[in-house]
Amino acid sequence: MCGIVGYVGPRPSQDILISGLARLEYRGYDSAGIAVIDADGGLGMRKRAGKLQVLRDDLAAHPLPAGTTGIGHTRWATHGGPTDANAHPHLADDGKLAVIHNGIIENFAELKDELLSGGYTFVSETDTEVAAVLLGREFQASGDLVAAFRAVASRLEGAFTLLAVHQDQPGVVVGARRNSPLVIGLGEGENFLGSDVAAFVEHTRNALAIGQDQIVVITPDSVEVSSFDGTPVEAEPFEVVWDASAAEKGGWPSFMAKEVSEEPEAVANTIRGRIHDGAVVIPELAGMDDLFAGIRRVIIIACGTAAYAGQTGKYALEQWTRVPVDVELAHEFRYRDPVIGEDTLVVSISQSGETMDTLMAVKYARERGAKTLSICNTQGATIPRESDAVVYTHAGPEVAVASTKAFVAQITALYLLALHIGRVRGVLSGAESADHVRELEAVPPKISRVLAEEQAHIEQFSRWMADTQSVLFLGRHVGYPIALEGALKLKEISYIHAEGFAAGELKHGPIALIEPGQPVFVIVPSPRESAELHKKVVSNIQEIRARGARVIVVAEEGDAAVLPFADEVLRIPLAGPFFEPLLAVVPLHIFAMGLATAKGLDVDQPRNLAKSVTVE
Ligand code: F6R
Repeated sequence: MCGIVGYVGPRPSQDILISGLARLEYRGYDSAGIAVIDADGGLGMRKRAGKLQVLRDDLAAHPLPAGTTGIGHTRWATHGGPTDANAHPHLADDGKLAVIHNGIIENFAELKDELLSGGYTFVSETDTEVAAVLLGREFQASGDLVAAFRAVASRLEGAFTLLAVHQDQPGVVVGARRNSPLVIGLGEGENFLGSDVAAFVEHTRNALAIGQDQIVVITPDSVEVSSFDGTPVEAEPFEVVWDASAAEKGGWPSFMAKEVSEEPEAVANTIRGRIHDGAVVIPELAGMDDLFAGIRRVIIIACGTAAYAGQTGKYALEQWTRVPVDVELAHEFRYRDPVIGEDTLVVSISQSGETMDTLMAVKYARERGAKTLSICNTQGATIPRESDAVVYTHAGPEVAVASTKAFVAQITALYLLALHIGRVRGVLSGAESADHVRELEAVPPKISRVLAEEQAHIEQFSRWMADTQSVLFLGRHVGYPIALEGALKLKEISYIHAEGFAAGELKHGPIALIEPGQPVFVIVPSPRESAELHKKVVSNIQEIRARGARVIVVAEEGDAAVLPFADEVLRIPLAGPFFEPLLAVVPLHIFAMGLATAKGLDVDQPRNLAKSVTVE
């Protein structure tokens, strides 16, 4: 949700900014822009509505004067439509100051009124321009960008990362953050700022995380971080664990195709280093047994696909720890005065670690005395920093807006957490734990088999279904959240109506939707693991088939009971209890991608969306 990059050093900044923006474009693609301080000390700025390519073409046709200090922005529109005028950077101080912003300044209307009555004028509808004009006014008073930031930051309410350059201070980029992401990249004689490390990972893997309400100043040779009131702060160093090629398409038609193909690795890498002698030992949680000792309740909070991972993991977490588990959407949790306290463990799940709804819910839980643990895929992100503990998923960078490999990694991390807590609390015997670990470790090659054996088949029938107007997904038990995930993925990237239901709920209303030809995916539970559930789902299939539905089943190998009632059968290998979802979701991801591709849509950057939702 808006990508931000800053550079200062000896090299021409334009190419560095544009390639940083290309890696951040998943955060928003309504417009893009850059500002560069050129060799003569002038400030050049170019911004264009549309995807980054529009800006690239413009710059190729009309180059900006070269300079070695600059900032760049890719936008997901909040205040004001996706126009050239509303694109960032925004200028102030007679065009000498350029500002970019990620977040929402909630009191921008009052501040704008104040500035309008002081005779200032505006050319856009954005909240960002208000911050730019305020910074310009303060710069005129002090002649110093850092002093201007200190004066302005404390007046802004809401969430913001702001970066600015001023032509009177060449060789300096200043940034400030509150509740929106910003990390520093440390180079040799050059430094970088970015919404996340993808912005600079091709230049350096040495990074610093910046805390809340802090200001950072970078020059080619120095990095200074301080709190809004000027107190110097030691920023936390970390090394980026993946290299730039991990965030490149590498010959795949889309990032989503690449990321679905990486689902086996995402699971394997999340397990790696966390199993010892058949038991789960999560090194990040060493010495933290107290966190789990007195808990009487777990609440999982997350949004979208991450929430479905939570719903899937809930069953095993409850079973293996014998602690009651609830799953709640983060934006609902915080506004209903939940009953939580010291005996509650709030587990947040977030791929980006920056989702504002989830972040606010974590802060709220902490304020209420709950213990907080985050499952996150992004180093240096805000949510883990705001939590008592973190278990990282090691899915690698996820660039496509629709989450795929992070989803299976999140479920894996929840299973590891469940086994860890079960052991710490003495609920699971060593033998039980070892059985579950064996099943979990067997998952990655099984996902690879699904990809190898079913991908071509699914892509073929998704092409036949390119004109479909609506698809339903049914599941029970752990298959239910997988049905919800299948529906979300489809509507998100193919723009067709899709809904997921608990199969048992069908007869309570949704069955009215079934008419001849209606495609319905059914996630069929394993007959070996649960004969009773299996029987029930087969009955549900018969009910919809009798009403003319076109039934596509995702079923375990060897399950012959579904054959008489299915138009298509997608096979998944046998898996132990609870592990089936990690396999069953793979055909649904392939299907969504196949159908959107057949419709000629951009699967990586679906309309109206951004990957990291940093507004509430
Ligand atoms: C759907 C999708 C979203 C995210 C949600 C949470 O494909 O990607 O629903 O899962 O916005 O994002 P994170 O995990 O970054 O908190």
